[in-house]
Amino acid sequence: MAYDKRFYEQAENEIKQRRLRSESSLAARTEEAERLIPEIAEIKNQLSRTSIELSKLIIRRDKDFRSNFDKIKEQNLQGQQMIKELLKSKGFPENYLEPSYYCELCRDTGFRGTERCECFTRLLNKLAVEALNAEANMPDCDFEHFSLSYYKDVTDANGMDCYKKMSENLSFCMEYAESFSLRSPSLFFLGKTGVGKTHLSLSIAKRVAEQGFTVAYGSLLNYLIKIEKEHFGRAEDPDSDTMQTLVNADLLILDDLGSEFRTGFYESALYNIINSRINLRLPTIISSNLSADELQRNYNDRIISRIFGVFTALMFVGEDIRTVKRLKGEI
Ligand SMILES: Nc1ncnc2c1ncn2[C@@H]1O[C@H](COP(=O)(O)OP(=O)(O)OP(=O)(O)O)[C@@H](O)[C@H]1O
Ligand SMILES: [Mg+2]
Ligand SMILES: [Zn+2]
Repeated sequence: MAYDKRFYEQAENEIKQRRLRSESSLAARTEEAERLIPEIAEIKNQLSRTSIELSKLIIRRDKDFRSNFDKIKEQNLQGQQMIKELLKSKGFPENYLEPSYYCELCRDTGFRGTERCECFTRLLNKLAVEALNAEANMPDCDFEHFSLSYYKDVTDANGMDCYKKMSENLSFCMEYAESFSLRSPSLFFLGKTGVGKTHLSLSIAKRVAEQGFTVAYGSLLNYLIKIEKEHFGRAEDPDSDTMQTLVNADLLILDDLGSEFRTGFYESALYNIINSRINLRLPTIISSNLSADELQRNYNDRIISRIFGVFTALMFVGEDIRTVKRLKGEI
């Protein structure tokens, strides 16, 4: 089983709730429309009588079947049309009494034929991601709490105007989050410690998640530890599959590349995550405080060529804001 059992139960339950919500909202709309336009109830009675007749016809299936069938079908269509006209004449949308589903593909059953609908698998992954995210909580890491004041009058070793650079990064990230889609580019945040890489990546995560996307965010090291435990059968939860959950998230944020110790297992797990997501063309954001040189030295070419070839790099610059805040007594 690819996902934890409890996620299946939760997903089934959620789909059932969606179905109940769509049924009860239709019932409420029907009640309202029939109260304001009593003719609708009459037509619907008529329609249900014709559908009984229709089933009788099908059972009998005599020589007049075809012509009678067509006649009843015609009456049916006329009835439906009359309801639409009545609704329109009273200012309702003409499809007011048609059910509206959360997922039109499966009509909120979770199945298409005998296959699980994609809304169900999306829900499963969303639940798995939420459980993972719960472990990496960073409050106040959002665009509102990101201040450019920390970069004012700061130049980096190469004489770069940090304020200007970070204003550009902030605008880029806000725009990225606002217009996020499954085809958004992958990003690579580079820069020294404490300059806001995690803060801005989590700000994107929040905004993108608010739009209904499934966003997994966490430290790469924590993810790798989990994946290793699961691989060697030492996971607390025998059904969890962190690798699959990360690969399938709409947006994945791998924080702090370079903080993990290097082992063959970690390296191949990292490669698998990055490569699978590139193949699925799903966006990933990676942050690291290693320099480009250090990255080249520490990771094999398969990983480096993918990151530098596919990801859009953003240089983060400035003072270590952690230290600045600590000196000011803010943290
Ligand atoms: N522009 C900013 N405005 C307000 N707070 C900030 C800003 N940038 C960073 N911070 C805060 O400073 C601290 C360090 O920032 P962050 O964790 O984003 O650094 P980082 O670049 O990810 O560093 P590291 O490489 O060590 O992981 C965090 O508490 C963060 O919320
Ligand atoms: Mg960080
Ligand atoms: Zn569906």
